[in-house]
Amino acid sequence: MNYIGSKAQLLPFLRANIEAFAGGDLSSKVFCDLFAGSGCVGKSFATDVRSLISNDQEYYSYVLNRAMLQTGILEGVDEIIASLNALPPTQGIIYKNYCEGSGSGRNYFSDRNGQKIDAMRQGIEAYKENEELYFFLLASLLLSADKVANTASVYSAFLKHLKPLAQEELCFQALDYQPMSKLHQVFCEDANTLISKLEGDILYLDPPYNRRQYGANYHLLNTIARYDSFVPKGKTGVRSYESSPYCKTTTALQALEKLIYEAKFSYIFISYNDEGIISSSMIAQMMQKYGKYESIKMPHHRFKAYQNKLHKHYIYEYLHFLEKF
Ligand SMILES: C[S@@+](CC[C@H](N)C(=O)[O-])C[C@H]1O[C@@H](n2cnc3c(N)ncnc32)[C@H](O)[C@@H]1O
Repeated sequence: MNYIGSKAQLLPFLRANIEAFAGGDLSSKVFCDLFAGSGCVGKSFATDVRSLISNDQEYYSYVLNRAMLQTGILEGVDEIIASLNALPPTQGIIYKNYCEGSGSGRNYFSDRNGQKIDAMRQGIEAYKENEELYFFLLASLLLSADKVANTASVYSAFLKHLKPLAQEELCFQALDYQPMSKLHQVFCEDANTLISKLEGDILYLDPPYNRRQYGANYHLLNTIARYDSFVPKGKTGVRSYESSPYCKTTTALQALEKLIYEAKFSYIFISYNDEGIISSSMIAQMMQKYGKYESIKMPHHRFKAYQNKLHKHYIYEYLHFLEKF
């Protein structure tokens, strides 16, 4: 999944620095990924730490992280996926509101794929009693549907004509996962509310760094995951979403400082880039008040949807570290 702000390409950089600063062996540590997004950071540390706490305020992210961190060995999943793939397409919420053939005026999926998503999503409800399987199937559907979405990358707009990938038939594929034997926790809350209830060793913070609200950019993933009734708004069919204080210049630094102040964690790491709402020097100044501070930066590719010949292709990705007093 091409996720805004994903740290998938930066995992070696994060791991090397987190291990060096927090003392090497992480096997006795509780690690919290408070802005988990696609979940790639939590997933990569899940087998090395004593336990992991994952959180994100978006429901689609909660679904992905639950599936990646709380799925044990699943029996018979290949047969279930084959049966979902074989369901006859049906005209439900996705086709009616997000496909051109229904007259919705929106072109997020081909008519056939929209109807297939509806059939599969309705089919998944039959497994609701088995939460582990249910979230695993939901996460698998989100990632499978995302592959054939008719967008440049995010769901804040659709393309006028179906791009070649969107013309391909949706194939429901199982999430690539490693069965978990440890007890990891997954939350779907506002980070600033949740922080007071958490305790651990390593807190990794990767908040949004610009004005783009994730709830707007990934609204369709929330709609597929929730599959509830609501009135889609405007040209894009967006649903209502929580605004994040990290996406506003007037509130971002204050919200971040509140997290650092309240955190009951020994080591705190913040990922942020040099084009974000808060400058690196402001983050450094704020963090120095709370303990021993260091930082490191490395060049990193821009998020692809924003590539523009007039802009430089690299940004600097910072990792700010704090050993809290
Ligand atoms: C930069 S992304 C994280 C990317 C993630 N580390 C990855 O590699 O995929 C920021 C995340 O913060 C979440 N978020 C924004 N405001 C939040 C808040 N107040 N509480 C919890 N999560 C929030 C967004 O939904 C988004 O997934």
